Amino acid sequence: MIGIDIIEIKRIEKMIKKFGNRALERFLTPRERIIVSSPSSVAGYWAAKEAFSKAIGTGIGKECSFLDIEILKNAKNKPYFSSATLKKFNLKDADLSISHDGGFAIAAVIVLKKNMV
Ligand SMILES: CC(C)(COP(=O)(O)OP(=O)(O)OC[C@H]1O[C@@H](n2cnc3c(N)ncnc32)[C@H](O)[C@@H]1OP(=O)(O)O)[C@@H](O)C(=O)NCCC(=O)NCCS
Repeated sequence: MIGIDIIEIKRIEKMIKKFGNRALERFLTPRERIIVSSPSSVAGYWAAKEAFSKAIGTGIGKECSFLDIEILKNAKNKPYFSSATLKKFNLKDADLSISHDGGFAIAAVIVLKKNMV
């Protein structure tokens, strides 16, 4: 199953300007807040979380909140979903890709459910 999302980086910049750290705490876990620093990275994480929620088919809400999804980075800077995220949503595997250019951040997510072949 796949999901995709795009966001204007300016929207994230405005949110950070208006609400500061409280805005980040609303949708980034403590580990994620250490990893992401620039508004474009933060926007990429936002897009990736919305894309994940579309891939599993719930959207962001009660069943799947921003903080239920955790995206970490490997030694080469590749983002990946934490094992806790896979476990919470009963997924066999999941992968994502993020890009930013021209004032937008975009993310694509693919998930493999445990009961899928
Ligand atoms: C699904 C969700 C992620 C959509 O995000 P969005 O940015 O409003 O809308 P997008 O343009 O990115 O995506 C819209 C498309 O998502 C798809 N979509 C909607 N619900 C979906 C679901 N449950 N699963 C998979 N895809 C879904 C539809 O194809 C929709 O297109 P349509 O309107 O033509 O039907 C939604 O859960 C959401 O709005 N989340 C934001 C929650 C939030 O807290 N925002 C904070 C604002 S400050």
